[in-house]
Amino acid sequence: MGNSVHVPLESLLGRIPAQPAAPHSRSAPALASGTPGSARSFHIETFGCQMNVHDSEKVAGVLLERGYSLVADPLAADVVFYNTCSIREKAAQKVFSRLGQFRGPAGRDKIIGVLGCVAQQEGEEIFERAPWVSLVCGSASYRRLPDLLAQLESGNRRVMGLDTDTDETFETEITRRDNPFRAYLTIIEGCDKACSYCVVPFTRGPERSRSSDSVLREVRELAALGYSEIQLLGQTVNSYRDPGARAMTFAELLLAVADVPGIRRVRFTTSHPRDFGPDIVAAIDSHPALCDHVHLPVQSGSTGVLQRMCRTYTREQYLEKISMIRSARRPISISTDIIVGFPGEDEQEFSETLSLLDLVQFDQIFSFKFSPRPHTAAEHLDDALPEEEQGRRLAALQERQREIQLRRNAALAGQSFEVLVDNRGHKPGQWSGRTSSNRVVNFSSPHPSLLGQYVEVRVTQAGPNSLLGELV
Ligand code: SAH
Ligand code: SF4
Ligand code: F3S
Repeated sequence: MGNSVHVPLESLLGRIPAQPAAPHSRSAPALASGTPGSARSFHIETFGCQMNVHDSEKVAGVLLERGYSLVADPLAADVVFYNTCSIREKAAQKVFSRLGQFRGPAGRDKIIGVLGCVAQQEGEEIFERAPWVSLVCGSASYRRLPDLLAQLESGNRRVMGLDTDTDETFETEITRRDNPFRAYLTIIEGCDKACSYCVVPFTRGPERSRSSDSVLREVRELAALGYSEIQLLGQTVNSYRDPGARAMTFAELLLAVADVPGIRRVRFTTSHPRDFGPDIVAAIDSHPALCDHVHLPVQSGSTGVLQRMCRTYTREQYLEKISMIRSARRPISISTDIIVGFPGEDEQEFSETLSLLDLVQFDQIFSFKFSPRPHTAAEHLDDALPEEEQGRRLAALQERQREIQLRRNAALAGQSFEVLVDNRGHKPGQWSGRTSSNRVVNFSSPHPSLLGQYVEVRVTQAGPNSLLGELV
């Protein structure tokens, strides 16, 4: 999804259910499993999208498998990993300020590694900017991580994994999931689209789908561990193509995941409009475990801008997809991503994005100022918009959407929804959870622990970004 999250995995230490190593777990080489008393520790911090968050869970699994333990303080860890995001300039800069703290003595005797999209994009340059870094590895090479770590442990000073021409996906025997109820599961990695503003095809390599057999096996394992909500991930999740013998379509896979006993909610993100077909809507309509929410990034309401973005659909074609979703028997909530101030976007084109908001009535949007990114086609386009104009447009867009969300949420007052409780509020007795349609609902209850439970909540009050309710 469009929002960049920033998750220190260790902040969830202690809330993670212990996950037993699978019996067929690959054994780690000598140094790894650690002689008693030689326990080594790691710290990992994650920037970027859910796919990065989930990759970090798998990287943590690789380290745990090698005998490392997870610690909260980067300065106290033997291995420090930053899993980075490069989607906009600001996101990409963050890692360098983090790395700065290890200049000099603080970085001595540590393995400091840069993973993810900045690693893939900057490659060796990272060693030049921060010579105390010893590992640089992009997501398409994570299969090599155990090997790269072994090289460092045996005394190599610098190692890199930057190949993207692979048909492999990143799977490990142990995944250290950071949420005990909702499990992320990547079904397709990389991206074969070529949106002119976007780094992802460079940083994550070409599309690779995981076989439906392997996906379903993991879902069954997750259900057995007590997870009830599965979120299927991919940059273009609905471009999924089953490489296995069953050759399931994406919609068939959704239904098969929803059918696994114990699974109560299935979400998927992010869908590309071009590959979004009626079979997905029919699947949601037919299976109550498939959540009634679709994240369908539009990026702009102007066909001209969409063409310059190489999005492969027009405003009208996007609106047809929306009518298809709206014609479902179940009301399905729709969220989107929007970029304002793409080079050359004129007032008329911007006003078409505003009018698209009015027409579609999205339930939520994630909106960004265009940021020129290295190697992308839009990097050097003429007619860049001044920063202040981009800011003005972003504010106007967000204000328009705020009114829409307030109206849409207010219309829910009095209705009851099933909520999966996933957070405590600031004060004792306050809880927060999400509806199937992905709305946040806050409510009070004296119950000592509702975390992970499904409860029925009636909406009493609505704000633009969340609802207030009472337990039914
Ligand atoms: N694969 C998804 C999302 C990719 S990144 C998709 O195709 O929609 C998440 C969001 O970041 C994008 O939807 C887009 O809105 C935003 N984004 C990507 N590149 C950007 C850039 N160069 N400048 C500003 N926003 C960008
Ligand atoms: Fe980027 Fe476009 Fe691929 Fe999404 S579909 S990841 S925006 S290139
Ligand atoms: Fe960022 Fe890479 Fe995800 S650029 S949004 S972490 S795919």
